[in-house]
Amino acid sequence: MRFETEAIHYGQEPDTATGAVVVPVYQTSTYEQDAIGKHRGYEYSRTGNPTRTALEKVLARLEGGKYGLAFASGVAATSAVINLLKKDDHVVAGDDIYGGTYRLFEKVFKPWGLNVSYADVDDIISFEKAIRENTKLIWIETPTNPLLKIIDIQRLATISHARGIMFAVDNTFASPYFQKPLSQGADVVVHSTTKYISGHSDIIGGAVVTSNDSIYEALKFHQNAAGAVPGPWDCWLALRGVKTLAIRMRVHQENALFLARYLSTHPGVEKVYYPGLVNNQNHDIAMKQMTGFGGIVSIELKGGFPAVEKFVSRLKVFMLAESLGAVESLVCYPCKMTHSSFSTEEREERGIKENLVRLSVGIENKFDLREDLKRALT
Ligand SMILES: Cc1ncc(COP(=O)(O)O)c(C=O)c1O
Repeated sequence: MRFETEAIHYGQEPDTATGAVVVPVYQTSTYEQDAIGKHRGYEYSRTGNPTRTALEKVLARLEGGKYGLAFASGVAATSAVINLLKKDDHVVAGDDIYGGTYRLFEKVFKPWGLNVSYADVDDIISFEKAIRENTKLIWIETPTNPLLKIIDIQRLATISHARGIMFAVDNTFASPYFQKPLSQGADVVVHSTTKYISGHSDIIGGAVVTSNDSIYEALKFHQNAAGAVPGPWDCWLALRGVKTLAIRMRVHQENALFLARYLSTHPGVEKVYYPGLVNNQNHDIAMKQMTGFGGIVSIELKGGFPAVEKFVSRLKVFMLAESLGAVESLVCYPCKMTHSSFSTEEREERGIKENLVRLSVGIENKFDLREDLKRALT
């Protein structure tokens, strides 16, 4: 069956006890057992919960993977993957990544004994050059946060696998509707389900999907042993979000492309980052590996930080807030918000300038959104 149908039905059979057509919220921490060592599939909700199982099944299916695992946040999902490594192992990560992922590498895993280097996402050869004897993981986002760069997943999978290195892709920005990294050679896909998957700015959640049996076994063990699991209500809200993922993504993309084109012609805008624009440096790779470009548009404004402050304060529909990927449009200032864990120099090296603004384009009426931007830029 196709994406839209599976998003609504896969792993979400009517409840066996009542026939409820929507997977219930199994708000229980534990389960009655029939005898010692004899249970009905569930023992304790950290280990497994039926609402979570439904979410894990549908996410795995939509990503084209065998196994899904849900976590309490995107960062917890990322952390679970990094936890597959050992002290003294080495990671090569793309240099344009979510600030929280960078903080996790730098402030949590480096002190613990992990080695991490960052490769230039504009130059795939730099990943190859950064590989060491002890490299165990290559980690990228594509599209990247916040500059919407696109990395060739297939080429990086070939580089990783030639050396037996696990290759993980954070697919949060594209969602499985627009991109399926496992089908292009990634071993692991990670999501902040806080974003497009749930889609309504009402939960924090994460997920990992893989088709690799041993990676799954290790992650499953970690999920239970370390315990960063989402509660059943959050799983239920994510499940409800998944049902409309396709239709939302189509409108996010339509609106984002419409606004990106508008902003490209605006005299107050210095640069527009959106892979759907034909003049974007990564448009060709995006066309090759994605079926759409997503709903995030980043822009550099003429006039530096004062122009940014003015722009942000004049917006009425776009709300100044962290996060992205939900039905409502949000504006974010990466230097002081999502990417504040980078130092000023690190941000400069990565091209995250003081006049950069990230727009998460929602599914409101696109003409209202354009008017909002127009007013704020005037
Ligand atoms: C690309 C990306 N990955 C991971 C995360 C972390 O997710 P969470 O905030 O759900 O922990 C974020 C959060 O913004 C993100 O943008």
